[in-house]
Amino acid sequence: MPTLLFVNACVRGRDSRTLQLAYQLLDRIREANSNDMAFHIEEIRLSTENMLPLNYERLERRNELLMQGFLEDSMFDYAHAVAQADMIVIAAPYWDMSFPAILKIFFELASVVGITFCYDDNGNPVGLCNSEDMYYVTTSGGYIGEFNLGFEYALALSQLYGIENAHFISAEGLDIEGADVDAIMNEACNKDFDNYSNSSQ
Ligand SMILES: Cc1cc2nc3c(=O)[nH]c(=O)nc-3n(C[C@H](O)[C@H](O)[C@H](O)COP(=O)(O)O)c2cc1C
Repeated sequence: MPTLLFVNACVRGRDSRTLQLAYQLLDRIREANSNDMAFHIEEIRLSTENMLPLNYERLERRNELLMQGFLEDSMFDYAHAVAQADMIVIAAPYWDMSFPAILKIFFELASVVGITFCYDDNGNPVGLCNSEDMYYVTTSGGYIGEFNLGFEYALALSQLYGIENAHFISAEGLDIEGADVDAIMNEACNKDFDNYSNSSQ
């Protein structure tokens, strides 16, 4: 059964509007793949994970493990999850022009040479991930406009990982005084999210 990796960076949990939008997308994906290609959804809820950014000690340990080829160490669990997924959905609110810091830690831990990407003989990166599609779901208080830095960063990493298609889904302007939050959310939820069938089948 193909696996959909759901990276949940919605810090406000059940109150999160980003999570609400992401659930709509997951429903659509489920509907579009409700035959024998149904996905097993594996969620990583970042706010309940015990994740630490790399410090000098952890970086040395990681380098040591990589040098010795111990790729099965639990330090590489997130990298394996990203590499093996058949589809990836990331949900993250728009914070300080990008996303919450926990998502950066996740990306740092998932970006491992030899698991999610490697280099060819000319030093060019080569992606090692199975997934062809990455969906990035966000909501924002104002309008994101040209500072779509969270998605652009996720897009750059997707390309490094060899994931061909990156899709952006947002509901914006939710905290502007007088905003009709329900209407904005409904509109975003009802948009025709493109290409949500499992293209790797
Ligand atoms: C720490 C923090 C930083 C934020 N930074 C921005 C920002 O830079 N631009 C913006 O338009 N809204 C910003 N917002 C508002 C959120 O993007 C908005 O409320 C969003 O819908 C929250 O998503 P959630 O309901 O999933 O938590 C910020 C909110 C928080 C709590």
